[in-house]
Amino acid sequence: TRPQSMRGLKLLISAGPTREPLDPVRYITNRSSGKMGYAIAEAAQQAGADVTLVSGPVNIPVPDNIHVVKVETAQQMFDAVMNQAHRCDIYIGAAAVADYRPAQIQDHKIKKQHADNIIELTQNPDIIASVAGLPKKPFVVGFAAETDDLANYASQKLHSKNLDMIAANWVGQSEGGFDSDHNALQVFWPGGSQHFAMTDKQYLAHQLVKLITEKFNEKNPA
Ligand code: C5P
Repeated sequence: TRPQSMRGLKLLISAGPTREPLDPVRYITNRSSGKMGYAIAEAAQQAGADVTLVSGPVNIPVPDNIHVVKVETAQQMFDAVMNQAHRCDIYIGAAAVADYRPAQIQDHKIKKQHADNIIELTQNPDIIASVAGLPKKPFVVGFAAETDDLANYASQKLHSKNLDMIAANWVGQSEGGFDSDHNALQVFWPGGSQHFAMTDKQYLAHQLVKLITEKFNEKNPA
């Protein structure tokens, strides 16, 4: 049995992609499978946390003993997260939130003859930055999927979004990242960094939960 290091803590986590509708039959989305977020939710639950998972559309069964709130769009994810965020101790933003959505959702299927129409986009709210901006801010952990200059972009996001920790991974490579069962992470927090070598997402999730617990306890001494 594992030590119940997160016992007594309320953990809120978002996972999966968001889906931004264009018309009744089409949407814009991304390659996130939700596997990393679900693995973290389960690892935290096993570590004793009371876990709520706000999930975009994924093909993963609902885990036992975790409260799952299913959403589709970034706006719905924002609402579900902000509804819970003020009463959680830790927020982990593992979802791949679409930065933009179609400005208008058409009531009827867009016809071919109008296909040269340009789709107008409008920006979605930044969920994690909103959580990190709450007056009673939980311990906030972000993710950063990068194709280049990982350390730079990740530490920029750590500071600009006012996060306590950010887990960065390479995407668009042969192994790891989106839709894979494996991943490697470089984790940054103010004043430090740790590398987690390529492994399965379940084991990686346990390692990450351990590090989050350690840093949470440093920030919130008993
Ligand atoms: O800036 P970027 O999207 O790469 O930042 C990634 C982090 O921000 C992730 O933790 C992601 O869940 C979060 N995010 C968010 N709301 C958005 C965009 C990203 O919470 N609209």
